[in-house]
Amino acid sequence: MKRKKWNFTPLQIAAHLGSLIPLAFILWDIATGNFGVDPIRDFTLRTGKTALVLLLLSLACTPVNTLFKFKQVLKLRRPLGLYSFFYASIHFAIFIGVDYYFDFTLIQSALLEKRYAIVGLTTGLILLALAVTSTIGWQRRLKKNWKKLHKLTYLAGILAVVHYIWLVKQGVLDPWYFAAILLLLLTLRIPAIRKAITTKRART
Ligand code: HEM
Repeated sequence: MKRKKWNFTPLQIAAHLGSLIPLAFILWDIATGNFGVDPIRDFTLRTGKTALVLLLLSLACTPVNTLFKFKQVLKLRRPLGLYSFFYASIHFAIFIGVDYYFDFTLIQSALLEKRYAIVGLTTGLILLALAVTSTIGWQRRLKKNWKKLHKLTYLAGILAVVHYIWLVKQGVLDPWYFAAILLLLLTLRIPAIRKAITTKRART
């Protein structure tokens, strides 16, 4: 049997290490008991924020290549998306296991009553579908539909930001910064804008 070669570029190594740093900090804080008065909320917020940041970074890869013709970055889309799913899973696991002690009646009503939770769950399910079908095998099986399915990443990005906007108090600006970044990334994907950028780049 042929052995798979693990040829990682420095950029890929940096992406993997960078994605694991927030987890290392969380584990370190748990091991050393270094957390505030509400550790469950603290870890929920940290894993949620990390999942969102990684999702946006994954969405940023294509526009970065469009702007700077930096193809290497395209290889980061999959790992960054998978790490986003990984942190979203921990985020959800804390919510159902630690916050609600697996009380499924309570979880069901929390998920149905709170609009931010419904949107969060939908985002999580999209990330799950994308993670499961992210392999070469699924790419071959789904053929053209694979690309269509993976366009759901944009929807996941939008829903994750809506989830964040809906759960913060009015007047808190943080989620709006993420919304602005997402809007910029989505704008850079509009075919006419992409074409204009590549034409301008070819001329210079
Ligand atoms: C799977 C279903 C999900 C549930 C039930 C859920 C639930 C929650 C809860 C309870 C909070 C904390 C609210 C608070 O105490 O203020 C939260 C915060 C957050 N969640 Fe989720 N979430 C889900 C999925 C996601 C996903 C998939 C993402 C991103 C990809 C995400 C991103 C965030 C962010 C960014 C925050 C706020 C972090 C901050 O304020 O620093 N969540 N979520």
